[in-house]
Amino acid sequence: MARYLITAGPTRESIDPVRFLSNRSSGRMGYAIASALLELGHQVELVSGPVNIEPPTGANTTQVESALEMLAAAEQLWGQCDGIFGVAAVADYRPANTSAEKLKRQADTLFSLQLEPNPDILATLAAKKDQRLAVGFALESDPSHNEAKRKLVAKNLDFVALNGISAQGAVQSAITLLDGADGIWQLGPAEKSELARELVRAVGITASRA
Ligand code: C5P
Repeated sequence: MARYLITAGPTRESIDPVRFLSNRSSGRMGYAIASALLELGHQVELVSGPVNIEPPTGANTTQVESALEMLAAAEQLWGQCDGIFGVAAVADYRPANTSAEKLKRQADTLFSLQLEPNPDILATLAAKKDQRLAVGFALESDPSHNEAKRKLVAKNLDFVALNGISAQGAVQSAITLLDGADGIWQLGPAEKSELARELVRAVGITASRA
């Protein structure tokens, strides 16, 4: 039996106690991968941003909000895991300052928000992966493989799953899976639950014998 770490869902980056920056990630793909791994008898550490779906039964779930919280939770768990699937849609930036008070609307002045980059969670963890498995996602509007391949190398991944913008929040999806050599696999289109099973098989994970 192996143990896999999955980051899933969006992150929320607080502007003040009421507002945040986020994105349209539903968490479905990450949760489907968690289910597929559990079906094969593996253990799952699911670190999830805020979503409206239930975590699969049997997953050890850690709920987080921001990218910094997600990184801290994932770093804690990574030492005990055999691989990582970085599926979270981590916000690229967070407000440089979070106001403790609700910001007031000012009708006649421009409002500007300073943003600072968030850490790359998957790259941070995969840099310390040794022989462990690291799988990332790349959501690209450009269907060529160049950007996905660049991310695979830059983040020290074994595989990158490339999907189009239409995958966001969708029930059905398709993936082009790339490895560090010249391997290319077309997975789906299929419901995310089936696509996750195909993905887990394609990256070489088999049923636990323990
Ligand atoms: O660079 P980009 O955001 O397209 O990379 C996507 C991949 O990297 C996904 O696997 C995502 O989960 C991961 N990622 C991350 N932390 C970030 C940005 C992306 O873990 N700050």
